Amino acid sequence: MTVRPTVALSLLVVVLGAFASAQSDTDDGNYRFQTRPPLPDASVMPTLANGNIGFVAYGEYVHLNGVYNGLRGKSHRARIPNYGNIQLTACSPSSPGGVADTCTYQLNMRTGKFVTVEETGDYRLVHEMYPHRYYDTVLVNRIRIQRLGSTNTITARLSQIPGLQAADFTWQPSTEFVMWGQLYKSQCGVTVQVEEPTVQAFGHNVCVTYPAIPETVQIEPDTMAREFLFFTAFTMTEEDGRRQLEVVTGLTGAQEETLHMREMDRLWERYGISVERNDELDRVIKASAFYLFSSLPAHQVATSSGRYPFYGLAPAGLGRGGIEEQEYQGHSFWDTEIWMYPSILLMDPINAAKVLSYRTTVIGGARMNAMKHGFEGIQFPWESAFTGTEVTPDCCPEVADFQHHITADIVFAARQYFYATGNTDWLKSHGCRLAADSSLFWLSRASYNNATDLYDIHNAMGPDEDHPNVSNNAFTNVMAAHNLFFGEFASCYCRDQTVNETVRRELLQVARGLTLLYDAAGDFHPQFEGYQPGTPIKQADTVLLIYPLQHPMNVSTKANNLRQYSQVTRENGPAMTWAIHTIGHLELGEVQQAATMFDKSYRQYLRAPFNVWSENGNNEPGAGNFITGAGGFLQSLINGYAGVRLHQDRLEIKNARLPPDTRSLHLPTVEYRGVLFALTVNETGIKVAIRVEGQPDLKLTVDGTERRICKDCEYEGTTAIIQQTKDQIFEGCRLRPTTLGVKVADQTDAAPALRTTALAFLSVIICSLLSKMF
Ligand SMILES: *[C@@H]1O[C@H](CO)[C@@H](O)[C@H](O)[C@H]1NC(C)=O
Ligand SMILES: *[C@@H]1O[C@H](CO)[C@@H](O)[C@H](O)[C@H]1NC(C)=O
Ligand SMILES: *[C@@H]1O[C@H](CO)[C@@H](O)[C@H](O)[C@H]1NC(C)=O
Ligand SMILES: *[C@@H]1O[C@H](CO)[C@@H](O)[C@H](O)[C@H]1NC(C)=O
Ligand SMILES: *[C@@H]1O[C@H](CO)[C@@H](O)[C@H](O)[C@H]1NC(C)=O
Repeated sequence: MTVRPTVALSLLVVVLGAFASAQSDTDDGNYRFQTRPPLPDASVMPTLANGNIGFVAYGEYVHLNGVYNGLRGKSHRARIPNYGNIQLTACSPSSPGGVADTCTYQLNMRTGKFVTVEETGDYRLVHEMYPHRYYDTVLVNRIRIQRLGSTNTITARLSQIPGLQAADFTWQPSTEFVMWGQLYKSQCGVTVQVEEPTVQAFGHNVCVTYPAIPETVQIEPDTMAREFLFFTAFTMTEEDGRRQLEVVTGLTGAQEETLHMREMDRLWERYGISVERNDELDRVIKASAFYLFSSLPAHQVATSSGRYPFYGLAPAGLGRGGIEEQEYQGHSFWDTEIWMYPSILLMDPINAAKVLSYRTTVIGGARMNAMKHGFEGIQFPWESAFTGTEVTPDCCPEVADFQHHITADIVFAARQYFYATGNTDWLKSHGCRLAADSSLFWLSRASYNNATDLYDIHNAMGPDEDHPNVSNNAFTNVMAAHNLFFGEFASCYCRDQTVNETVRRELLQVARGLTLLYDAAGDFHPQFEGYQPGTPIKQADTVLLIYPLQHPMNVSTKANNLRQYSQVTRENGPAMTWAIHTIGHLELGEVQQAATMFDKSYRQYLRAPFNVWSENGNNEPGAGNFITGAGGFLQSLINGYAGVRLHQDRLEIKNARLPPDTRSLHLPTVEYRGVLFALTVNETGIKVAIRVEGQPDLKLTVDGTERRICKDCEYEGTTAIIQQTKDQIFEGCRLRPTTLGVKVADQTDAAPALRTTALAFLSVIICSLLSKMF
């Protein structure tokens, strides 16, 4: 099929000048990273994504939200040939003649575009490539030719470089159609292998629709400048691909740009944390926010048919994970709820709800997983992809077999959502089921210990993956207790039939009775039974009790935990550990140690020239675009330096401090129960500037004085609390504080302890009878 570009291209030509708009604060250089040839290795190239499509800039494949290929542990993001990978041939790394030294490459995070420029004295070529933020099935290529000194025809050569050899799809013959004089192609296929045949009957249908790309575009001597637009759509059906392109090509370039920038503006309005007087740090913050929100959808997107709901966040984002056993294959781990989600929740609860909804979408997989392992309720898999069944690769069974805290981590995130939003509709529609059924899992997972009159959790693995199969891991037990208490509350609130009053009393008894190891002599929490002080660990584990778990304990215990474990944490552990240590030191008022840890938490993990996060420090190779690390880092700013803490009945800002070598720290949006405010920290204290008033029944106190919550009101001080004024009893149900380690005999309103014991006793008898029978 020959390509006939010229006739139709005039339709794509756009009048110049309309583009100067909407770019007011794009002048801030900290939003841009620029480099000259050669481009770096693909592992450190920036990811461009919009929550629906994701790819590495100049990469040959695109991934689509929720679309995976491969059986169980081999399930990975399906690689779709990137027909939108158009490059200026002169600046293309694949160009046989080598890259012209007149080329520069730029990531513009403000606009979400990767920009290639070739400039000589004669002309200037500007090529922008970006996933559209509103038309989120569409990848845009915009090429502008501008005349400088030349008086001749100016020609730009184009290369289209889709990856073709990937075996993730069975492709149908491509089809063609003409729209407004332009020839388009449509390539449709279905993924080769389902993830879990017992629950997934069919592969995923995907279509790429794109215009025939000419080999050259040019302007004649009488033209000063011209723009050429090429749209590529990635959809589930051919009709939808065609429809998306019909819509975007019907817009003027300015309209398309305005719709894209409106959503970029909205995202930056929330995620645009900044610091003054430290450009290097400011650029790290902006890159962290950018790469994190790139894998999230915009608040408003165009409709498209057959699309999946939002399918979660993977450690290397939407643009990576297309290769087996690399970059986490696009799976979701605890990284999502514990490292990425907390910052999203405080700045952007609309997207936080979408992140949570991924888990409820695939809750059936968690139910199967629990059944398979002989537990009640739902047990989320360690690694999750399309079906929500276990997709941990065969290499590493231990993480899946023992790291059961993932289930409680997810419910912890859900509880935080309820704290932050008070959304009872969500509780009724999704939260209750999640909380109740996961608490049944923990009920069946815990076992009564007659010697201690407490409950144990055996055969577990905490976040410290160097120690599998341990008993009473502190982090796991505290998380499980949170889960049980929240499950008890939620099932009461929703009048759950399965988790009825009798079961709820058991939930309470087990929650309160869970063991929390404490070494009185050393005044610290041993990580698990038999843990010897000085034993090296992989990453933050027990220190997570300080933050994010906010487990009540004496200051001395916090300090001892932090000292004990920070001394023995592997130096080559992931970035998040140092972020957690930063927050811990700040809470203890140890500003110097915090600064040291803060430095350690990001510098070694960022890769030039585009500030892409890497999984590993010290230039060791690891997963690229490691947004888990970015998420931990943002928490060290929001919950560490800015001192923000979420509680059941309030949001607190205290102990706010300036990050090292800065003059101010600014969070443009913190959202709590509908109150939107900006938070600024400087040497003197904090400033709260309210933009939206939010729900009634809230009380703001600044330095102990009550202040009105009003639009455009600003308050200065050192601490601020937004508190709910209503009591925390919901239709007769109360969420009890997480207190564990209470002997069953000392539990005043507990169910008779004998019930569980007797049941356990009975099942021992039945088991032994059965074993005799067979
Ligand atoms: C629990 O311990 C008590 C006292 O040590 C003993 O009397 C009882 O039989 C034990 N129960 C079970 C089920 O082992
Ligand atoms: C885990 O520990 C238990 C003892 O609690 C042991 O029976 C089991 O074999 C261990 N499993 C693995 C995979 O090491
Ligand atoms: C509560 O649920 C349990 C388990 O589903 C059931 O055995 C019990 O009869 C129920 N109790 C009441 C009072 O409904
Ligand atoms: C915390 O400190 C108080 C007062 O020093 C002490 O009474 C209490 O036992 C401590 N708590 C723990 C868990 O060590
Ligand atoms: C901090 O900001 C407040 C306004 O919010 C200002 O009054 C104060 O002077 C600032 N302090 C410093 C040291 O810049």
